[in-house]
Amino acid sequence: MNNLHNLLIHRRSIRKYTDQPLSPDSVKLILEAGLLAPSSKRCTPWEFIAVEDKEVLARLAACKTAGAKPIEGAALAIVVTADMTLTDTWVEDASIAAILMQLQAADLGLGSCWIQVRNRFGANDEPAEDIVREILGIPETMGVLCILSIGHKDEERKPFNEEKMMWEKVHIGKWE
Ligand SMILES: Cc1cc2nc3c(=O)[nH]c(=O)nc-3n(C[C@H](O)[C@H](O)[C@H](O)COP(=O)(O)O)c2cc1C
Repeated sequence: MNNLHNLLIHRRSIRKYTDQPLSPDSVKLILEAGLLAPSSKRCTPWEFIAVEDKEVLARLAACKTAGAKPIEGAALAIVVTADMTLTDTWVEDASIAAILMQLQAADLGLGSCWIQVRNRFGANDEPAEDIVREILGIPETMGVLCILSIGHKDEERKPFNEEKMMWEKVHIGKWE
């Protein structure tokens, strides 16, 4: 990819991955993208947990009743957490870090998917955040925003059709 617009057009959520592991350099670059994220007042509340162990990936994939299956087949999951006691913008700060990591993965030609954890529920209506905290030993003070599943693509998805750009969502000068 040689420019950001092209990368954004081609980035799609990828939920199927090959068995090929990621190179340590790729993992490092993706995590660095998170560490380079801006945060309110530069309080950097986020902490990331990189998981490659297949057994743990399978347990994380069961953290909610639907929508988490891609984690099971991923080469890497990055659990995106942030210290809720540090700032009232932890969701925003962690979200920005997460999307930057997804864009870095896309720039490396890898597929990724955002798996929502916050406000989602597992079996018996247990909060998915508590399930993930328990699996990984994450402290109670850390909010668990999402898990990024990442791997080499095992599906192709069409890039965005630029002719379908939703310009009606843009208001110039005032709302009308
Ligand atoms: C906040 C957020 C939560 C999401 N949660 C999930 C999820 O739990 N499981 C999943 O498979 N995809 C999830 N996604 C991916 C979206 O389904 C996907 O981005 C959307 O369908 C648009 O497709 P695209 O990413 O290919 O453009 C989530 C995306 C966002 C931004």
